[in-house]
Amino acid sequence: MSKNPPEVKYFEPPVYIAEADIKARVRELAQKINAEYGMQEITAICTLKGGIVFFTDLLRHLKMPVVCEFLGVSSYGNHTESTGEVKVTLDLNEPLIGRHVLVVEDIVDTGLTLSYLQDYLKMKKPASVKTAALLFKPEALKTPDLKIDYIGFEIPNRFVVGYGLDYAEKFRGLPYIGTLE
Ligand code: XMP
Ligand code: MG
Repeated sequence: MSKNPPEVKYFEPPVYIAEADIKARVRELAQKINAEYGMQEITAICTLKGGIVFFTDLLRHLKMPVVCEFLGVSSYGNHTESTGEVKVTLDLNEPLIGRHVLVVEDIVDTGLTLSYLQDYLKMKKPASVKTAALLFKPEALKTPDLKIDYIGFEIPNRFVVGYGLDYAEKFRGLPYIGTLE
């Protein structure tokens, strides 16, 4: 006779943006991107780790030929606040010279990370660099000149998790965006 395993209950953060709403919005963003690039081949850069879920969902709606690249970035700071100093923890595999680059980011908070990344990528002489960010916290922005071409949702300045986003590496697998506050 096998015994049932004990039931383990993890903390489930309350829903802030529901799975169905994310799905619908990601599809809309992809339609916009498809309309703007047409059949132009692009290099889509997934920023690790937070961008993984948004990237793979978005990718499945893109119609043009896409070369996938992964860029590991980590911003120095504590769990909930970045300092603006960015470290590249995993670099790109392919040169970007002459390529149309689409950066896929989970969230733009102060904007310091994305601003650093855009400068970093422009040094590699791509034909163009555009950015898609699932979430954007306009109230937290410290880089007013930052350009984000495709934004999923503007949210207030509160800490969110899920759909790739973590708190101390947890909650990345939640299918929705939850809040801890
Ligand atoms: P900055 O401030 O440079 O921040 O725009 C970018 C990075 O900080 C992380 N970040 C968050 N992560 N919930 C998270 O799980 C949040 O609410 C949040 N705000 C910022 C994230 O890694 C992002 O790429
Ligand atoms: Mg990130």
